[in-house]
Amino acid sequence: MEIRPAAPSEAPGIDAVIRAAFGADDAAHGDQVGDLWAEVRSLGLVLAELVAVEDATVVGHVGVSHCWLDARPQLVDVAMLSPLSTQPERQHQGIGTELVAAAIEAGRSSGRPALFLEGSPAYYGARGFARASAYGLEPASRRTPEAAFQVVTFDGYEEWMTGRLVYPDVWWRHDSAGLRDPDLAFLEDLFAREFPAS
Ligand SMILES: CC(C)(COP(=O)(O)OP(=O)(O)OC[C@H]1O[C@@H](n2cnc3c(N)ncnc32)[C@H](O)[C@@H]1OP(=O)(O)O)[C@@H](O)C(=O)NCCC(=O)NCCS
Repeated sequence: MEIRPAAPSEAPGIDAVIRAAFGADDAAHGDQVGDLWAEVRSLGLVLAELVAVEDATVVGHVGVSHCWLDARPQLVDVAMLSPLSTQPERQHQGIGTELVAAAIEAGRSSGRPALFLEGSPAYYGARGFARASAYGLEPASRRTPEAAFQVVTFDGYEEWMTGRLVYPDVWWRHDSAGLRDPDLAFLEDLFAREFPAS
């Protein structure tokens, strides 16, 4: 298995992996994320796209794209990790872990000062991400549980870079900022118990 930047010809294979991974329990969710990522790409917002490839088949994918941090002195270009997908039958074999590591390096190489995501603190916290609220950072939506909003900072990060994350419009058009009930209420409760604010 190889982890490397995606080739343009791999877009259909990537699309299939995203829809299979996010749609495993709910096909509509798979379509939501697949449609979102296709449009992020078509809008030229992608900073990096990495694939896990085996026997010329895409079995995993991670996207890194543009967003802003609305800091007091100025708007800052930052990076966001999403989506992360492993083909369902290939999960639990370390592919996601390798993709996250590659995405962090891609975020670093992009020259942006920070890489954000919304996701499980158990999963990403063990793979290099820290709670963003510790830096005074706020998620784009109040519907993101505090422990789910995470960041990796790079050399260019400076202390004044705090404030609210701002997603390009496409994330809102696909209703992909934060969570909605009942998932929101469930995860807020779970994270508050398992990852209480320090
Ligand atoms: C999340 C995902 C990419 C992980 O891929 P993977 O290749 O299986 O990752 P790894 O093999 O490196 O790590 C798997 C471990 O992470 C854990 N894990 C997976 N998803 C998790 C989650 N949402 N929360 C906490 N832990 C999670 C698994 O329990 C597994 O542990 P185990 O192997 O001891 O059972 C994959 O489960 C996936 O595609 N899920 C559907 C899409 C999704 O939810 N993406 C993340 C959105 S933030």
